Order: sequence, then C-alpha cells, then structure tokens
Amino acid sequence: MNSTYNQSWKAFWLEDGNLVVIDQTQLPFSLVTKTLKTSADATLAIKDMTVRGAGVIGNVAAFGVYLAARESKGDLAKTKELSAVIRLARPTAVNLMWAVDRLIAVLEKAAAQKLDLVEVALKEAIAISDEDVIGTRNIGKYGCELIEAIAKTKPKGEPVNILTHCNAGWLAIVDRGSALAPIYEASDRGLNIHVWVDETRPRNQGANLTAWELGQSKIPHTLIADNTGGLLMQYGKVDLCIVGTDRTTRSGDVANKIGTYLKALAAFDNNVPFYVALPSSTFDMQISDGVKEIAIETRSADEVLYMQGLQADGAIGKVRVAPLETTALNYGFDVTPARLVTGLITERGICEANETSISGMFLDLIP
Ligand code: MRU
Repeated sequence: MNSTYNQSWKAFWLEDGNLVVIDQTQLPFSLVTKTLKTSADATLAIKDMTVRGAGVIGNVAAFGVYLAARESKGDLAKTKELSAVIRLARPTAVNLMWAVDRLIAVLEKAAAQKLDLVEVALKEAIAISDEDVIGTRNIGKYGCELIEAIAKTKPKGEPVNILTHCNAGWLAIVDRGSALAPIYEASDRGLNIHVWVDETRPRNQGANLTAWELGQSKIPHTLIADNTGGLLMQYGKVDLCIVGTDRTTRSGDVANKIGTYLKALAAFDNNVPFYVALPSSTFDMQISDGVKEIAIETRSADEVLYMQGLQADGAIGKVRVAPLETTALNYGFDVTPARLVTGLITERGICEANETSISGMFLDLIP
C-alpha cells in the first residue's frame, strides 16, 4: 500500500475549490482519494460511505452545501433544494442535519444582506471543521485525565487497557476523533496504554480503520472479534471503554454503531467504566428517548452476507459467508440507554449522562 500518511492529514481537504476526501472504503489496503465537485458527489460519498463517521459526515455535508451554492451560482432557493438532498443522505448521525441546517441559516441571513453565497458557504464549512479540530483536542485532554487516573493505579509496567468500538478517530472527526482523541493524547503524554479494537461487523470499521489509524500512530492495540469484549472484562483485562456516538439525546441516550449497547451491558455487569466521547454537534436536544426517537439506519443485507477484504491476487474483493438462500437484516446502529453510560466526554468537560448534567453544561444548546 502507498503509505504516505502523515500526522497533518485530515479525512478531507480543499483543492482548487473542490473537496478531496480519503476513500475510506479502500482502507487499510489502499490509500486513495476522491474529488467531490458537486453536491450530488457529496451526497453519494456520504451514502456509499466513501466518507463516514458522524463528524466527517457533517463536514462533507457542509462542504456539499458550498458546492450546491456554487452549482446554483449563488441562488438561495436552488441551493436549498440541492442541500435538502444532502440532508437525507444518511438518517442516524445528527451532525449531517445539524451542519446542513447551520449552513442554510447562515446563507439565508447572507442572502438578505446580498452577500456572495458561495463565499459565505465556504467560509462557514471551513469554520465547522476548524471548530472540530479544537473540539477534538479538548475531548482528548478531558478524556486523557481519566486514563491518567487509571494509569496511577496500575502496577508498574502494566498498560491501561481501553476497549473501543467502530471508528471514532481522525477518519471520523477532524482532527483527532472523539473516542480516540483521549488515546492520542495519552500516547502524546507517554502513558502506557493498549487498545482492544472491536472488529465491528458487518463493515469492519474497527479492523479496517481503527486498527489502521492506531498502527499509523504506533499505539499498541489488538484486534478482537466483536463478541470477545465481555470475556475480556470478566478476566479484568479492560480498564475502560470509550466509544463515539452519532446522536445523543438530551437525557444522555447514545446511538452508536451496532453492538455498542451489548458492550455497555457487559461493562455495566463487570463494573468497567463506559464513557462516550462527543463534540456538542452530536447532541440532539430535541429528543429525550433514544430508543423511541432515533431513526436507526437499515443498510443493505449484502454487508452481512458478504465480507470485503484483500484477496490473494492483491485486489480488494468480496466473499459470501452465508448460504445462497439466506437473507439478512442489517441495522447500522443501536441505542445505549443513559443508565449504562458512566459519563460523556465533551469539548467542554465531562458530564453525566442525564438531563440535569447535560443541560448544566450545554444550556445554550437547549431549544
Ligand atoms: O456507519 P459509520 O461508520 O458512519 O458509523 C460511525 C460510528 O458509529 C462512529 O462510532 C461514530 O460516528 C461516532 S464517532 C464520530
């Protein structure tokens, strides 16, 4: 593989006015990019998971609105029409809707002032990703304090073992991710850490993306089958779980990649702290009951019936893992009830997963 990655890379960047994104469907075997020139390109990249992860979906959606404004030659009505399509690209990660709505609100004001909508949209999309950079650095610092406290209790030479699910690293939110931000910070501070990486069937974001990210940063990690975490917890081999989230309600219920809930249950049963890391753009303060109110994405059955990987001939290919006549159900996310969440690691600090604590820290976001 062409390994030209360096620490200053992001999951996307601007080039000649277009958005270049890392094609995450090809990682870890091939580091290739795609150039998004139109709002339809942005919608497709989100839909087919060329880009994924709540934060990056929001960023690409925001740049998609900029591309829509450019295609519309600055016409607000046409920009809104194209942006409405981007907004529907995936249902669960609220950052997508949040980013499109934020851009449209800014464009409406700008149109009233007769400003150049293309310029304004670009500036606002850049502002969102700049905010994410600062946010993820702060999430890293607050989350690292938890790791540091555990490190002090460990016998000399023993690492702090952290379990994570899916990919919530820099491929998911610029520029340090959410769940992986405290891990990167701990590594920077020279703490002895080791990460258990859930493979995260069916799309294997853990095996393909998290293992790759951690490997690039030389952070010790071990890939495990999704069902292994519970046993590791019973053996006392998990000190802390940190996962990301795609939508968190005002009462602290957390939607994240399918399988997160089962890990939270196992953590609860074994007294292992279970933290969720998120930038505030991932709160959906309009809703309270995650199970009843969060739309869970249903994806193609083929993602369960087939597995993608590197073939003997060096090409990326798919193999079927179930009988030809078998059908499958593929929910992309599940909801972890707030009672199973030890705390929420945010850019403003760590709060409890309940309405009082969340609204205490994020009063300005309550509608
Ligand atoms: O379907 P994906 O790969 O977009 O799902 C991503 C996750 O579930 C991440 O854990 C999540 O986005 C939280 S981190 C931004």
